[in-house]
Amino acid sequence: LLELIFVGFGNVARRTVRLLEQMRGRLPFDWKGVAVITARHGWAHAAAGLDMAAVLEVLDSGRSLADERRGDAADLITGLCSLRSRVANDGRLVCVETTVLDIRAGEPATSHVRAALSGGAHVVSANKGPAAFAYRALADLAEARSRQFLFEGAVMDGIPVLNLVRETLPGVVVTGFRGVINSTTNHILTALDRGEAFDAALARMQAEGIAESDPTLDVDGWDTAAKTAVLMNVLMGARVTPHDIEREGIRGVSPADVRAAAARGERLRLVASADCDAGSPRGRVRLERVAASHPFGSLEGQQNAILIRTDLLGEVGILQRDGGLTQTAYAIVSDLATIAGRLTRAPTAVVRSPEL
Ligand SMILES: NC(=O)c1ccc[n+]([C@@H]2O[C@H](COP(=O)([O-])OP(=O)(O)OC[C@H]3O[C@@H](n4cnc5c(N)ncnc54)[C@H](OP(=O)(O)O)[C@@H]3O)[C@@H](O)[C@H]2O)c1
Repeated sequence: LLELIFVGFGNVARRTVRLLEQMRGRLPFDWKGVAVITARHGWAHAAAGLDMAAVLEVLDSGRSLADERRGDAADLITGLCSLRSRVANDGRLVCVETTVLDIRAGEPATSHVRAALSGGAHVVSANKGPAAFAYRALADLAEARSRQFLFEGAVMDGIPVLNLVRETLPGVVVTGFRGVINSTTNHILTALDRGEAFDAALARMQAEGIAESDPTLDVDGWDTAAKTAVLMNVLMGARVTPHDIEREGIRGVSPADVRAAAARGERLRLVASADCDAGSPRGRVRLERVAASHPFGSLEGQQNAILIRTDLLGEVGILQRDGGLTQTAYAIVSDLATIAGRLTRAPTAVVRSPEL
């Protein structure tokens, strides 16, 4: 039985809880939610397990949870890990971190992850911030505490890009990648292809909960830069942040630009790429013209694709036809299944705690 502490309970966390409920019985683990922490809508905790349907009902209707939040969420996480230290010591406590991306420094999510790992909890996140800004330090902390720090949902929703390399390509060196990895900008660019207006396409993405709560993060290429940093740090052993990525957005794209590309048999796409041809890895986010027949040229709406360059297998590609909230929620579910699976396979190292 996994005990889940939800830090952030917006679009992604709510869809995750609904998916976990929907999948009960076909998942290799059971779970209960023991805490929910939000920024402006209070927090709740119950060692016996929260009534998650009631939590969803309260927050969906815009009301707040009973306990008003005082102080920092990281301190609450530390306190909760201490309260649930027996469960943490069993390796069954998991912090599900889905607060908003802060592009300046990846905070407060990085502090949330650090507090959870230090308290003996595993961490599953859909937030790019921690891995984009502090991957090596957090991965080292997780390893030192014998805990998992997993974040498949941070890049390309539910598509197993990070898992693919970690689980199925042992010893293979990733030398670079190219990808269309932001759903909102691809949706806007393909809407422009069809003659629709920029603002209407962006508004649709916001209404569906796909665009970042601050849509400039998508439109100005920051979200793609953050994902590029995550991929470089995890797959290529880089130590970069989103601020090290050369970046361009789609704000200046006009219908005339799109029509001019179409007249040449091309499409405009926001392409993330990285290579280490000149020694140290370098990342870029650029608005590129790609042939309509290229795998990126045929991506419509929220579709994503990535081509990963490797030393042994050449280029390995993944195409995501249906990206969205359910897919991101599934990435969290799949990370939880990974944690549960490793629990049943290996004895859990004990984390020292005051209660022992
Ligand atoms: N939406 C997607 O399709 C998608 C896909 C992949 C990855 N992601 C990533 O997943 C994360 C969550 O996205 P979302 O769409 O669920 O965001 P969201 O709907 O805006 O929800 C964010 C949640 O985090 C809470 N929060 C913000 N700052 C906090 C803090 N300092 N302490 C505690 N709680 C805090 C908010 O509380 P209040 O409501 O009280 O403010 C809210 O419950 C983001 O990092 C995003 O980049 C999203």
